[in-house]
Amino acid sequence: MFILGLMGSPREKGNTDLLLSAFLEGAQGKGAEVMKVDVAFKHIAPCQGCRFCEQQGFCRLQDDDMGEMNYLLRRADVVALATPIFFYAPPAQIKALIDRSQALWARRYILKLADPKAPFRRGFLLAVGATKGKELFTGTNLIAKYFFDAIGARYEGFLGFRQMEAPGAIARHPTALADARKKGEELTGGLSRRRRALFLCRENACRSQMAEAFLQYHGGEQFDAQSAGDQPAPEVNPLAIEAMAEQGIDLAFRRPRGMDEIEDQGRPFDIVVQMGCEQSCPLTPSGRVEDWELEDPAGRPLEFMRTIRDAIEKRVKLLIKGDGPRR
Ligand SMILES: Cc1cc2nc3c(=O)[nH]c(=O)nc-3n(C[C@H](O)[C@H](O)[C@H](O)COP(=O)(O)O)c2cc1C
Repeated sequence: MFILGLMGSPREKGNTDLLLSAFLEGAQGKGAEVMKVDVAFKHIAPCQGCRFCEQQGFCRLQDDDMGEMNYLLRRADVVALATPIFFYAPPAQIKALIDRSQALWARRYILKLADPKAPFRRGFLLAVGATKGKELFTGTNLIAKYFFDAIGARYEGFLGFRQMEAPGAIARHPTALADARKKGEELTGGLSRRRRALFLCRENACRSQMAEAFLQYHGGEQFDAQSAGDQPAPEVNPLAIEAMAEQGIDLAFRRPRGMDEIEDQGRPFDIVVQMGCEQSCPLTPSGRVEDWELEDPAGRPLEFMRTIRDAIEKRVKLLIKGDGPRR
């Protein structure tokens, strides 16, 4: 499980920072891997409104940090958007990221491609402002709701704290940090009860990527799926992306991961599936280990990729039903 905190304030150790840190501590306490990204210091150019993404599914602007952000957004199980209120809205740099998520919106609503994690990803808003304004969080809440929808996350509500002006004022609030920690625990805790499954292949570019995505797509409420390879390729195989897109499943922005990047989460995997990797799982599985004898589609034509894709989908569905082959 990967929990992404988007830190919207440029003020280190300020109110937003403290609130987000408390949320992430709560999530970490439930075994999740957490990451805080200082969006205020990211180089993210504003959306040009050119509609390129509506045709191509990705942004024409490729030389800033948005590619990295798309990878992280797609990887996240929970996204916490933490922001101060600047003129009744989030600061410009956070808004630039939100506007640029239009490419993810276009993939979802125009190209009709399903992000495999969208059925279970959660989004939560943390906000602080200096005044008492009744409508202080109204606009930001709407922005957050539409942002979460675009990135394929279910909006789970918000915590907003008024009259927080001086840096660190939030630490003196009677419940704010405890409330944020509890929310982090709650949102992660719900997901941490899922069974853990790991798919391994050689390059983590085709077979194990497809298997992970299918398990997330068909059974993501029951299973927390991950994948890795013992010789990770530089990118997911474009033919695997194409073959999955034919089934409406989006592998865009995913990256091959090595064995050393497998999330530990402090508990063993319930299921490990090996597909031709030479090294076995470095973490001890508590449940079953399966070998799926599936030929490596790397370097083979799209037709062959489709055959492997379909075979993997069938096996994943059996795995969800719980009657896959045992060893
Ligand atoms: C440029 C700017 C605009 C602001 N606009 C508002 C505002 O419209 N309403 C409000 O209540 N506070 C406003 N504030 C105050 C901040 O929201 C407040 O100090 C907050 O606690 C800052 O959070 P931080 O410590 O995480 O940076 C503004 C602050 C700045 C720097």
